[in-house]
Amino acid sequence: MDKIVIEGGRRLEGEIRIAGAKNAALPALAATLLCPGKFVFSNVPDLKDVDTMIALLKVMGAVVKKEGGVVTVNTENIAHAEAPYDLVRTMRASCLVLGPLLARLGTSRISLPGGCAIGERPINLHLKGFQMLGAEITLEEGYVNANAPDGLSGQKIYFDLVTVTGTENLMMAAVGAKGTTVLENAAREPEIVFLAEMLNKMGADISGAGTDKIVINGGREMRAVEISIIPDRVEAGTFMAAAAITGGFLRLSGCDPSHIEAVTLKFVEMGCKITEGKDWLEITGGKRPHPADIETNPYPSFPTDMQAQAMAVLSVADGASVITESIFENRYMHVAEMRRMGAKILLKGKNAFVQGVDSLSGAQVMATDLRASASLIVAGLAASGKTHVRRVYHLDRGYEHIEDKLRKVGAIISRQPDKNPK
Ligand code: EPU
Repeated sequence: MDKIVIEGGRRLEGEIRIAGAKNAALPALAATLLCPGKFVFSNVPDLKDVDTMIALLKVMGAVVKKEGGVVTVNTENIAHAEAPYDLVRTMRASCLVLGPLLARLGTSRISLPGGCAIGERPINLHLKGFQMLGAEITLEEGYVNANAPDGLSGQKIYFDLVTVTGTENLMMAAVGAKGTTVLENAAREPEIVFLAEMLNKMGADISGAGTDKIVINGGREMRAVEISIIPDRVEAGTFMAAAAITGGFLRLSGCDPSHIEAVTLKFVEMGCKITEGKDWLEITGGKRPHPADIETNPYPSFPTDMQAQAMAVLSVADGASVITESIFENRYMHVAEMRRMGAKILLKGKNAFVQGVDSLSGAQVMATDLRASASLIVAGLAASGKTHVRRVYHLDRGYEHIEDKLRKVGAIISRQPDKNPK
């Protein structure tokens, strides 16, 4: 296993091209199961999670080719509607195949995802939605069986809480249901809008994506399409944090600033100067970040996927900040590691009280999830001495060659074998 080693204290300067969004690519790949045909995706990020989704599609009988950022998926023959434990265990988003398989084949079976490093993360709302569309759901030997031998029929579904993959799964199932489905209290993330655009291009009739009420007129004939994956707003936000903490200047090209307004405004509050165009953004960090209070909530609020990276920046602010994590119950695993670097952070329930310190010092740190890993890299960029971020496989799930991108803008960062990986 590898680790990332950073020699901190360098001001970053230059241009970084933002990759396609992991959380848009995963549902888009799952959506290929909805109908037979040959799909072509461009701007697909080179990530472990994308490889896992491709492996899953192959298990089911799809023929998939990945060349650079282009992935072709042929779904003429889908013979095996099952997501096995070994793949679901490594990536919860595997559950996104349930909806499209139910819609196309009237049956699907996936290993029920267990708890994860950031929270319990049940999929009860996905399953409740499928039941409302007429599927019979049973649990057997750790697997969820979903069956709708007579097909699905449209319904009004209210989500008890806002769920991103839940909305995506139900949207895909509803495309294959007879009649109209209305999703109330739906998630509004840009990735939902992107999926709806892809499904409409395939022949579906979906309106309202991007609002909390999505209407799907199901039962249309679907066909394969070519589509480009939207830019990764969390990757862009992570590099904004890197510029903010090093007092640097970064131009982020190929991003969509309209997807990250809540994040942009927080960095402005922290003292950064930001200018943006349609598909680029420039950020200049101040001498030292100012404090800012942050509360994570569903889009368009501040995203939970940026909480840890923002905390790294605020850990060296010239004052005190309060961060409230409202989405996941256990997404503060990075705090203990940041404390080892000298950060002063107190946790109380959903709140983290961050008292900015003058500087952080490099240390050996261990990450437990994707965004926590990214936050430790951000912290390491500003810390004196060397920071070793271990368990780098988390990072590879969601950041495309992050060390190469940071090195090109002046960071001293390398990937090295971890001789003591435990
Ligand atoms: N929840 C339930 N029941 C459900 C579904 C969700 O209780 O059936 C709860 C969750 O436990 C959580 C909250 O609802 O407390 C919101 O979770 P959501 O379902 O929205 O999360 P998700 O769809 O599993 C996606 C992203 C996450 C991101 C969250 C929140 C993908 C593949 N994953 O997860 O991304 O943090 O939305 O925005 O889109 C990441 O990229 O690092 C990542 C974790």
